[in-house]
Amino acid sequence: TVYVKSLYRDTESYAGKSVTVAGWVRNIRVSKNFGFIELYDGSFFKSVQVVFGEELDNFKDIAKLNISSSLYVEGKLELTPGAKQPFEIKTEKIVIEGLSSPDYPLQKKRHTLEYLRTIAHLRPRSNTFSAVFRVRSLAAFAIHKFFNERGFVYVHTPLITGSDAEGAGEMFRVTTLDLDNLPRTQDGKIDTKEDFFGKETNLTVSGQLEAETFALAFRDVYTFGPTFRAENSNTARHAAEFWMIEPEIAFADLEDNMALAEDMMKYVISYVLENAPEEMAFFNQFIDNTLLERLDNIVSSDFGRVTYTEAVDLLKKSGKEFEYPVEWGIDLQTEHERYLTEQIFKKPVFVINYPKEIKAFYMRLNDDNKTVAAMDLLVPGVGEIIGGSQREERYEVLEKKMEELGFNKEDYWWYMELRKYGGTKHAGYGLGFERMIMYLTGIGNIRDVIPFPRTVGSAEF
Ligand code: 4AD
Ligand code: MG
Repeated sequence: TVYVKSLYRDTESYAGKSVTVAGWVRNIRVSKNFGFIELYDGSFFKSVQVVFGEELDNFKDIAKLNISSSLYVEGKLELTPGAKQPFEIKTEKIVIEGLSSPDYPLQKKRHTLEYLRTIAHLRPRSNTFSAVFRVRSLAAFAIHKFFNERGFVYVHTPLITGSDAEGAGEMFRVTTLDLDNLPRTQDGKIDTKEDFFGKETNLTVSGQLEAETFALAFRDVYTFGPTFRAENSNTARHAAEFWMIEPEIAFADLEDNMALAEDMMKYVISYVLENAPEEMAFFNQFIDNTLLERLDNIVSSDFGRVTYTEAVDLLKKSGKEFEYPVEWGIDLQTEHERYLTEQIFKKPVFVINYPKEIKAFYMRLNDDNKTVAAMDLLVPGVGEIIGGSQREERYEVLEKKMEELGFNKEDYWWYMELRKYGGTKHAGYGLGFERMIMYLTGIGNIRDVIPFPRTVGSAEF
């Protein structure tokens, strides 16, 4: 069988020849002695038009087919200049592989994204999700390609871990203990010594700390894998399970980190625009008709840069009444982030040097003793898409910080040793992969860019 993608990409060489295509019926129209099938095989965004006539000995069976039946179609490819589709297949033979019931939920009409979420097992067959998930696949590949071309080592950090990388306590506990009959220590606490690993473990919230160990061995590394957060935020941008790309670079500071992030964003956008033109045109037509123009601009212009302190001033001076009032020291909320990137800068913008109180323990303290070398990348339509920083490489400064925060230092002995044996300045960031796909497609809800969303109150299967 030949893939529909090849027919579209290489039409001339198939013209007039006999081909066999395997696929599913997207639509079927039948009159008395002939009919049309739009056959979709998943290899390409578009279907191929199949024309069949009553000379086929199973004409009557074909005429009764429901949408989503699977078929093999053999016939001659004929060019149809001037018609809606550039070619069609004049059928010589159709083999019916699998029938579909008339109650198939994806009939030829537009369905809401909310409805499609309730049929996560069928939605990859719809136009929208076929476009979303191909773009997702291409973007993942582009990320690997980008880092690979720059000589980065891809490191697989663990999903089960004993440390809380973000110190935010938003972790899913992993345990083999009998929940109905928990072992207790003398003082009534849960006895984690009896757990599988002999200690408390969780699903990772970030691979960063482990990636740092590799950066101090390979210099430039990245992880790309699932991460988990038990944060109870039921928003369009938060999922309990999401994928994160985390590069970590040694002998590098915040400037190097921003340069890398900007290059990566532009590379991935360009790659997807180039390799999924049909899908991107579809998003531009049906989801957000400023998408292509916006993405083109991003590739060709510089990202904005602003310090947290300047950003707070800009927001205060804007005269805009925010639901959550802006003061130096607050954690920027989505409304502030979106106002900055959408109204003030009108492009992606890095906000750097946040107050130390609102950022993670590992971020490098600036000379002002008040801020840390953090960076968040904010983009229009999404808000925060990247969070990163230069890391605290000074043993004593880091130790003091952990003491202040009441960390159990024994849990981080290995992390501290990285500062003891040839520590160097280093930096890194995390790109939320789903937020990147939202940004690339214009889709407004994280539930619609991940194949099987796990969000508060919902994990379909
Ligand atoms: O800002 P965050 O929490 O940073 C870190 O985890 C660092 N350890 C990264 C690093 O420096 N290596 O998360 C990074 C990004 C966010 O900017 C956001 O895009 C995404 O991960 N993210 C989420 N995406 C979906 N659902 C959630 N619940 C997310 N939490 C964070
Ligand atoms: Mg963040």
